[in-house]
Amino acid sequence: MQSDPGRIVILGTGGTIAGSAASPGDAVGYRAAQIGIEALIAAVPGLQGLPLEAEQVAQVDSKDMSCAVWRQLARRVSAHLSRPEVAGIVITHGTDTLEETAYFLQRVLAPARPVVLTAAMRPATSLQADGPQNLLDAVTVARSEGAHGVVAVIAGQVFDGRELRKVHTHRLDAFSAGDAGPLARIEAGTLRRFRPWPEGHALGLDFIAPEPAAWPRVEIVMNHAGADGRIVDALQAQGLDGLVLAGTGNGSLSAGLEAAALRAQAAGVPVLRASRCAGGPLLDTGDEALPGAGTLSAVQARVELLLRALAAV
Ligand code: SIN
Repeated sequence: MQSDPGRIVILGTGGTIAGSAASPGDAVGYRAAQIGIEALIAAVPGLQGLPLEAEQVAQVDSKDMSCAVWRQLARRVSAHLSRPEVAGIVITHGTDTLEETAYFLQRVLAPARPVVLTAAMRPATSLQADGPQNLLDAVTVARSEGAHGVVAVIAGQVFDGRELRKVHTHRLDAFSAGDAGPLARIEAGTLRRFRPWPEGHALGLDFIAPEPAAWPRVEIVMNHAGADGRIVDALQAQGLDGLVLAGTGNGSLSAGLEAAALRAQAAGVPVLRASRCAGGPLLDTGDEALPGAGTLSAVQARVELLLRALAAV
């Protein structure tokens, strides 16, 4: 059941959903992050007349997403959620780093009201743009009674932000939550929910402020045939605040890479093992020398180590 609980704030950060191409038939050769959030909202007839506010927080192609934008975004979300008349937040974003931003916001804010990320695989100028429907669906989720936590809405599916993975390079339904499946679907404008909204403990924002002179350096190294671990030694020599290993299968590492990671860990570098596989959690065998990242993707494990490094500063 849906009610009309209040005002929704829509924050623009860029992405293909705000992208523009020279020709309406071009869904590939376009520039992301060109169109302002007010214009994106104005292009969706179903949003007109709703109690909405818009704010442009950033205008970036999300391949260039930065810690500084994350911090600013989290601060604006937090500021708007402190207003009693605001029922929820929608964020327009690029698809490429959506799972990282979703995880960051959930860990930092664990919001008691909905924070709904949405995106598009085709630019706003496309004849078959998917952004307008995704934006409308995101607002529907943000206005749903009882909704809370950070979720992502794309192609009619609602994902828990911690489970989100981009799994396809160009299909409209480019996202998956793997074995967990979507948290809900939007069907004919109505939310059909299968699982609870995301819960969690908020780390808060205070430890990220003021603007750090340099953000912690957390790198991802993949295991692959022939991996010898020398890259880990080279990174460590430059100064490393955290290391994620995208292991093969259940997070396994070549002998050389494992030895190098153990050297780094012994020298005080926090390490997490994830998998380079597109789906599936890491299953602990009980005798791991290097801790596993559980259900997190490698890029989300990187965000986790980044937050831990910031919290320790
Ligand atoms: C981006 O991530 O900003 C560009 C690609 C996309 O949104 O699909």
